[in-house]
Amino acid sequence: MMDRARELDAADAIAHFRDRFDLPDGVIYLDGNSLGPLPKATRERLHRVVDGEWGEGLIRSWNDADWIGMPQRVGAKIAPLIGAQAHEVIACDSVSVNLAKLIGAALSLNPGRNVVLSEPGNFPTDLYMIQGDARVAQRLANREAMIDALDESVALLLLTHVHYKTGEMFDMTALTKAAHDVGAIVLWDLSHSGGAVPVNLNGAGADLAVGCGYKYLNGGPGAPAYAFVAERHHDNFSQPLTGWMGHAQPFAFSDEYEPAQGVKRLLAGTPPVLAMAALESGVELIAEIGVDALVAKSRALSGFFLDCLVSSVRGEAVEPRTDAQGSSFDKLRTNGWDLNLVSPRDPVARGSQLSFQHENAYALSQALIARGVIGDFRDPDILRLGFAPAYLRFVDIAESARHLAEVLDNGEWQEPRFQERAAVT
Ligand SMILES: Cc1ncc(COP(=O)(O)O)c(C=O)c1O
Repeated sequence: MMDRARELDAADAIAHFRDRFDLPDGVIYLDGNSLGPLPKATRERLHRVVDGEWGEGLIRSWNDADWIGMPQRVGAKIAPLIGAQAHEVIACDSVSVNLAKLIGAALSLNPGRNVVLSEPGNFPTDLYMIQGDARVAQRLANREAMIDALDESVALLLLTHVHYKTGEMFDMTALTKAAHDVGAIVLWDLSHSGGAVPVNLNGAGADLAVGCGYKYLNGGPGAPAYAFVAERHHDNFSQPLTGWMGHAQPFAFSDEYEPAQGVKRLLAGTPPVLAMAALESGVELIAEIGVDALVAKSRALSGFFLDCLVSSVRGEAVEPRTDAQGSSFDKLRTNGWDLNLVSPRDPVARGSQLSFQHENAYALSQALIARGVIGDFRDPDILRLGFAPAYLRFVDIAESARHLAEVLDNGEWQEPRFQERAAVT
């Protein structure tokens, strides 16, 4: 498989972008779906912002370096990656905080309704934010029952487009339409989508969206998130975190709140300039590579990983089979290893990741990390490998599949040092 990997790398039109990232030697990084690596330009950008704009410019930089315009400027750069118009996206706060604001926005757009529909097993913060809004009644439905669970009491359908654990992707257009048919608003969490899979919010008729800055956008640890509100709602929505930066005239210092126009209304407090600068640099790099090329390579990488893994199986055959619950994806069982693929086999139906169920997935992930292959673990039994296309090579994929096969074959994961759990998994 290594020869094939070299051929694929030689033919890869975006291979050279790997040099734009600072990647440590001896590491194969399969966790860009959790924390993207450091773009070299970001280090330089932060030096400029710290030494020049902050150190020299001091408070003048709010105007001179347009710090004040950063949330809109960075939002506008994210917009083409998610099929939005520039003035529909703003970069601010965390995904969690933006969820709270947009749940409030949905209620304001749909007065008289209070049900928020989501799925069990959605990313916890999405569910917690629903549960934390005292006005809301939460309703959960499994994927197969989602459309039936939509009725005229539903104010908001809140779903994560690409599932963080399994990588399964919802049909954004179909679900948005089904929600609109009963008069519900739709909010998409794009945390595992933006910069990695095709997203066309306006093409799908979406109302609201949020997404993460520190995963595929490589904005740095704890980077600001982004929020989208479709233009048709700009005049009519309100949101509960009515801070001064979302005021029509923050520097008029008036006693009465008056919302700014459009997505600027989503701002609450002062933008974190250093974090915004890092996010802007990450977004510029992803935009320069282009989503189409990223998506095509992401699918090729994860498909190649499966080919490599399957080619290392000795003995019993690898068989796709259908999940007992009748779910839409097949499972791949490598009999000797007891490793089940829980991501869809069809690359078009999944995000930029492959997730494997294994009884000892945590120890497996630790044994891989000790070999320099960094993926992660999601409780209780999922080994998650992310295939961020901006910097991974096909040779990395062949190598990481070989490491996984070896760790499974020789039982290395059973060593006691791989059993202890750290605070962050
Ligand atoms: C789907 C999804 N939503 C939200 C979050 C958390 O976002 P934040 O930490 O910015 O609140 C994550 C983090 O991994 C996620 O995967």
